[in-house]
This record gives sequence, C-alpha cells and structure tokens, in this order.
Amino acid sequence: MVRRLFLVLAVALAAAVALRHSRTAPAQEETGEKGKAKASSCVMCHKSISPGVVADWQASKHAQNDVDCATCHGDDHKSASSAEKARIPTPETCAECHEERVAQFRKGKHALAWVAMKAMPMAHAQPVALMDGMKGCGGCHKIGLKSEQEMKDLRREGAGYGLASCDACHTRHTFSAAEARDPAACRTCHMGFDHPQWEMYSSSKHGVRHELRKDGVLPATAAAPTCQQCHMPEGDHAVITSWGFLAVRLPMPEDKAWAADRATILQGLGVLDPEGKPTARLEAVKAANLARLTEEEWKAPRERMVKACRECHSERFARGELGKGDDMIRQADRLMAEALREVAALYRDGVLAKPAGYAAAFPDLLQFHESPTPIEQKLWTMFLEHRMRAFQGTFHASPDYALWYGWSELVRDLTEIRAEAKDLREKAGK
Ligand code: HEC
Ligand code: HEC
Ligand code: HEC
Ligand code: HEC
Ligand code: HEC
Ligand code: HEC
Ligand code: HEC
Ligand code: HEC
Repeated sequence: MVRRLFLVLAVALAAAVALRHSRTAPAQEETGEKGKAKASSCVMCHKSISPGVVADWQASKHAQNDVDCATCHGDDHKSASSAEKARIPTPETCAECHEERVAQFRKGKHALAWVAMKAMPMAHAQPVALMDGMKGCGGCHKIGLKSEQEMKDLRREGAGYGLASCDACHTRHTFSAAEARDPAACRTCHMGFDHPQWEMYSSSKHGVRHELRKDGVLPATAAAPTCQQCHMPEGDHAVITSWGFLAVRLPMPEDKAWAADRATILQGLGVLDPEGKPTARLEAVKAANLARLTEEEWKAPRERMVKACRECHSERFARGELGKGDDMIRQADRLMAEALREVAALYRDGVLAKPAGYAAAFPDLLQFHESPTPIEQKLWTMFLEHRMRAFQGTFHASPDYALWYGWSELVRDLTEIRAEAKDLREKAGK
C-alpha cells in the first residue's frame, strides 16, 4: 500500500517535472547546436526518475551522435506505468552499429562465460541469488552470452538483468572507451581467490609503472603495459590465452612424467575416467572451450602475446619469460597430481566413501566447496587457489604470488594431505 502510494507520488512528480521541462526544452532543442543532447520525452521524464542515467548518457558519445534512449530501449514504454515494456538491450542491440566488435566478442572467451558457469556440476547447488541473481558466480559470469530463453527468464525474474555483456568494461550509460582501456575496468572480476590478476598486475613493475604514469610521476610516454595491451591488442574483443584458466591442454606433453601428471589432473576434472578414457564431461569442456585441444589453438595466442611483449622487450627475453610460466605449470602439476593420487587411493582402498553422484571414481575437483570432507576440501583449494596463483603469478611478473601465495602453499597442501591421509588410514585400519 505504502509502496503504491509512493509510486503514485513519484509518477505525479515525474509528470510535473516533465511538463515543466516540456515548456522550456523544445526551444532549447531547436536552437541547440549539434552535439548537444536532444531532449526526448524519455530524457525529460528520466531526468527526474533516474537523473544519474541521463547525466551519464549526456556525457557519452552516444548522446553526441543522436543514439538516444529509445535507440537501445525501444519506444513502447512511454509512461511511468509501462516500464516493463522497455526493451533491455543485448549485444544484438549494439551489433546494429558495432558489428565488428560484437563479432570479435563472440569469438572470444568472454562470450562463453555464462555457459562455463552453468556447466559446473556444483552450479545447481548454489543459492539462486549467487547464480541467476548475479551476486556470486553470476555477478562476473554475466559477461557471457545467454540464449533467448535464458534472457527472457532473467528479465521475468526481475532485477539484475545482465543481458548486455557489452557494459562489462565500458559501463552504462557513459559507454566510455577510455574507461575500458584502463586496467581498473577488469578489476571487479579478475581479482581475488582463484584469479587475482588485478592484485598480481597492480603490484608488478608493469602495474606500478602504469600507476606512476597516471599520477604524473612518470612521463605520459613512459612504457607501461595494461591488461588490454597484452590481452586485447588493437582493441581486439576476442580475449583468449594459450593456457587459459585450467591450464590443461592437448596434445599431451612429450615429457613422460608431466604427461602422467596431466592425465591425473584430467581425471580429477572428470574429463578422463579412472581408466584414462574420455567421459561425457569432455563435451562440456569442448562446448565452453575450457581447454585448447590442439597445438595450433595453443600457439596462436602465444605468438600474439610474444608480439605484445616485443613492443618493449627483446624476443629472447619474452620467450624466456613465457617459458618460465609454462615450466611453473609443469612443476605445479607434479604436486597437484601427487595429492590427487593420494586421495584417489583412499577411495580405492575404502578409506573414504566416494560421494554418490560423482562422475568418476576419482576426487572431483569441480565440486569446489561442495566437497564432502576436509581432505577433499584441501584438494580443490590446492587446485583452484594455489596452483592458479603459482602459474598466474609467474606469467604476470608477480614474484610474491608465484612464490608465497602459490608454490609455497602447494608444498604445504601436499604435506598436509599426506599427513591427513595417513591418519585416515590408521583410523580405518587400512
Ligand atoms: C512519464 C515518465 C516516463 C517516460 C516518458 C519514460 N519513462 Fe522510462 N521509466 C519511467 C519510470 C517511472 C520507470 C520505472 C522506474 C523504477 O522502476 O524505478 C521507468 C523505467 C524505465 C526503464 C527500466 C525498465 C526496467 O525494467 O528496469 C527503462 C530502460 C526506461 N524507463 C527507458 C525509457 C525510454 C527509452 C523512454 C522513452 C521511449 C522512457 N523510458 C520514457 C518513467 C518514464
Ligand atoms: C547504447 C545503448 C543504450 C542507451 C542509448 C541507453 N541505454 Fe539504458 N541500458 C543500456 C544497457 C546495456 C542496460 C543494461 C541492461 C542489462 O542489465 O541487461 C541499460 C539499462 C537501463 C536501465 C535499467 C537498469 C538500471 O541500471 O536501472 C534504465 C532505467 C535505463 N537503461 C534507462 C535509460 C535511459 C533513460 C536512457 C536515455 C537517457 C538510456 N537508458 C539509454 C543501454 C542503453
Ligand atoms: C544506433 C547506433 C548505435 C547503437 C545501437 C550503439 N552504439 Fe555505440 N556508438 C555509436 C556511435 C555513432 C558512436 C560514436 C562513434 C565515434 O565517436 O566514432 C558510438 C560509440 C560507442 C563507444 C565508444 C565511446 C568512446 O568513448 O569513444 C562504445 C564503447 C560504444 N559505442 C558501445 C556501445 C554499446 C555497448 C552498445 C550496446 C549496448 C552500443 N554502443 C550501441 C552508435 C551506436
Ligand atoms: C564482468 C566480469 C569481467 C570483466 C569486467 C572482465 N572479465 Fe575477463 N573474464 C571474465 C570471465 C567470467 C572469464 C572466463 C570466461 C570463460 O572462459 O568461460 C574471463 C576470461 C578472460 C580471459 C580469457 C582467459 C582464458 O581462458 O584464456 C581474458 C584474457 C580476460 N578475461 C581478460 C580480461 C580483461 C583484459 C578485462 C578488462 C579489459 C576483462 N577480462 C574484464 C569476466 C570478466
Ligand atoms: C569475481 C568474479 C568471479 C566469480 C564470483 C566467479 N567467477 Fe568464474 N571466472 C571468473 C574469471 C575472471 C574467470 C577467468 C579466470 C582466468 O582465466 O584466469 C573465471 C573462470 C571460470 C571458469 C573456467 C572457464 C574457462 O574457460 O576456463 C569456470 C568454469 C568458472 N569460472 C565457474 C565459476 C563458478 C561455478 C562460480 C561460482 C561458484 C564462479 N566461477 C565464480 C570470474 C568469477
Ligand atoms: C573485456 C572488456 C570489454 C568488453 C566486455 C567489451 N569491450 Fe568494447 N572496448 C573495450 C576496450 C579495451 C576498448 C578500447 C579499444 C581501443 O581503443 O584500444 C573498447 C572499445 C569499444 C568501442 C569503441 C570503438 C572501437 O571500436 O574501438 C566500441 C564501439 C565497443 N568497444 C563496443 C563493444 C561491444 C558492442 C561490446 C559487446 C559485444 C563490447 N565492446 C564489450 C573493452 C571491452
Ligand atoms: C605484460 C603483459 C600482461 C599484462 C599487463 C597482463 N597480462 Fe594477463 N596474461 C599475460 C600472459 C603472458 C598470460 C599467460 C598466457 C598463456 O597462457 O600463455 C596471461 C594470462 C592471463 C589470464 C589467463 C589465466 C592466467 O592468469 O594465466 C587472464 C584471465 C589474464 N591474464 C587477465 C589479465 C588481467 C585482468 C590483467 C590486468 C589486471 C592482465 N592479465 C595483465 C600477460 C599479461
Ligand atoms: C609497454 C611496455 C611493456 C610491455 C608490452 C611488456 N613489458 Fe615487461 N616490463 C616493462 C618495463 C618498463 C619493465 C620494468 C623494467 C625494469 O624493472 O627495469 C618490465 C618488466 C618486466 C619483467 C620484470 C623483470 C625485469 O626485467 O625487471 C618481466 C618478467 C617482464 N617485464 C615480462 C614481460 C612479458 C612476458 C611481456 C609480454 C607478455 C611484457 N613484459 C610486456 C615494459 C613492458
């Protein structure tokens, strides 16, 4: 009741403001020089309904180019009581004018973020607010494309929307390219627990130099790479790296020990069964492009990256540095595989009960925090937190992440997992 009263009041107020503006605005509009925001009825009313939106839009290139509210939201909603008729833009809306950027985006990994999130076996067990409600996983993975049906459902279910994807780096309604070129544009998502690229970058010499350049301590011409310079050269919206997030790939390495370790990790990911044969989950991996499956797919982004480094470093230096990242993956895989085998043996010997519903007779790393026992919990944090940091820190020139938050923790994890496995065996008498 109170709510309805409030709405009526708001509408009356809006109408009054709109009226007041409509008396003065048309004259302004007629005399206004080109490049000035045209005062449409949408703008007039929304000046009081949501002044922040209007101010942002007025500061945008869109306003200067007559791309107005109705261009993106349609003009079916014209009154205060018909808000649900406003169209919520999707990348298709932007594609009407920015076809090339949308085509690039579609080819990159960001486009697959929603699919990848939904593909996780533990996704259905999470509170809805964190998923489709966009507060947790969905808050970052909303950057991905959604199906027509998913978009309808999201709109119907209410707030959040997250249909646009394109407002992730140049946010609405300024849609500023300058904002998107700054590393801060990536920060909200590329931070924290399992992918602290922001923390690693901003404390690396690359990031520190960028900060000092912004502060005017270093000259504006000083070399300081941004995330975008390395990952979106020439503004290419198709982001993808060689190793990606999971850092497993095909073909298997020639190094026999590494190949065996990677096979164990693929079993932990449920992509290979305990006998080493591909499972149904491999299809999900392919669908979300979770791993590069051929040498060529791995090499193309690598060569592009070397080219990016060469703007400031020698080719020898660049290849040498990237090689160290590859080697850190090999070494981290050693410890990770040892730990996985330790826990798999507990299943095999009947010390730990294999949880019902696990795809494979192997600890399932993709259950994340749904893992049932402390030793299995340690296994997934070892994978998702510490293995990630060890190699991501190496690639991002962050000695602290590579060592203390990465490698050192991995060694500690393995020690603890071994000790805990021993205890469990003693208790079970096996
Ligand atoms: C007479 C006032 C008025 C006019 C004219 C008007 N709007 Fe609105 N609009 C509103 C109100 C009120 C809301 C609901 C605000 C709320 O929920 O807080 C709204 C909501 C919206 C929303 C959000 C919809 C949602 O689901 O969240 C969009 C987008 C929008 N308007 C765009 C437009 C566009 C485009 C036009 C012009 C074609 C327009 N508005 C004209 C008053 C108006
Ligand atoms: C270039 C396209 C574009 C233009 C122009 C545009 N919008 Fe939007 N608008 C968007 C996008 C994208 C979203 C976010 C959709 C989502 O979350 O899925 C949005 C969301 C909104 C929302 C609802 C979400 C919120 O934050 O409350 C309102 C209200 C809104 N726009 C009003 C306006 C008004 C008023 C104008 C004109 C002054 C306008 N828009 C112009 C693209 C645009
Ligand atoms: C009707 C055509 C049209 C639509 C639809 C449209 N834009 Fe634009 N957009 C433009 C024009 C025109 C410019 C200005 C181009 C210029 O300055 O060279 C522009 C500029 C931009 C810029 C660069 C701004 C800057 O700071 O230089 C971004 C980013 C952008 N649009 C994003 C979007 C997004 C995201 C959407 C969809 C939500 C969208 N646009 C929808 C026409 C459109
Ligand atoms: C709204 C959240 C969000 C923002 C903002 C964002 N990203 Fe992402 N990014 C993601 C998600 C989620 C993924 C994983 C998508 C997948 O692979 O399914 C991802 C993946 C990537 C990848 C691909 C890694 C691989 O698997 O090869 C790169 C590179 C990347 N982002 C760079 C950037 C850069 C650079 C920026 C800033 C200009 C940025 N991202 C902004 C959420 C975001
Ligand atoms: C803070 C933002 C954020 C949250 C919250 C988040 N993710 Fe991510 N996710 C990302 C980013 C960024 C990447 C890409 C990281 C990289 O490549 O280093 C990613 C990568 C992934 C990938 C791998 C995609 C690929 O192609 O390699 C999956 C799967 C995934 N996330 C699922 C989830 C699930 C499920 C949740 C919730 C339990 C979740 N994420 C929570 C940002 C987030
Ligand atoms: C991961 C961050 C990110 C996402 C997501 C993103 N953009 Fe961009 N966008 C950028 C960056 C960075 C630039 C600046 C490129 C440059 O000038 O080097 C940019 C620039 C633009 C421009 C300005 C003109 C130009 O072509 O350089 C347009 C238009 C644009 N983006 C449209 C889109 C559309 C449409 C989408 C959704 C399909 C989208 N962007 C999604 C980061 C992003
Ligand atoms: C100096 C270049 C450079 C800068 C700056 C940079 N990266 Fe990276 N990034 C790399 C390299 C190299 C890799 C590993 C590529 C490979 O797989 O071979 C990488 C990998 C990634 C990945 C995939 C997982 C991983 O971490 O290995 C993501 C996501 C990512 N970077 C995001 C970002 C974000 C976000 C920023 C800014 C906060 C950033 N990067 C800054 C060079 C850079
Ligand atoms: C825009 C210029 C620029 C680009 C591009 C760039 N770097 Fe750098 N990089 C620098 C500068 C400047 C330093 C600081 C040099 C110093 O400490 O004296 C640096 C430092 C480093 C360091 C720290 C070790 C050292 O030399 O002090 C590493 C490692 C590194 N870069 C690797 C890379 C890699 C790998 C790439 C490509 C993925 C890359 N950089 C791309 C400018 C760049």
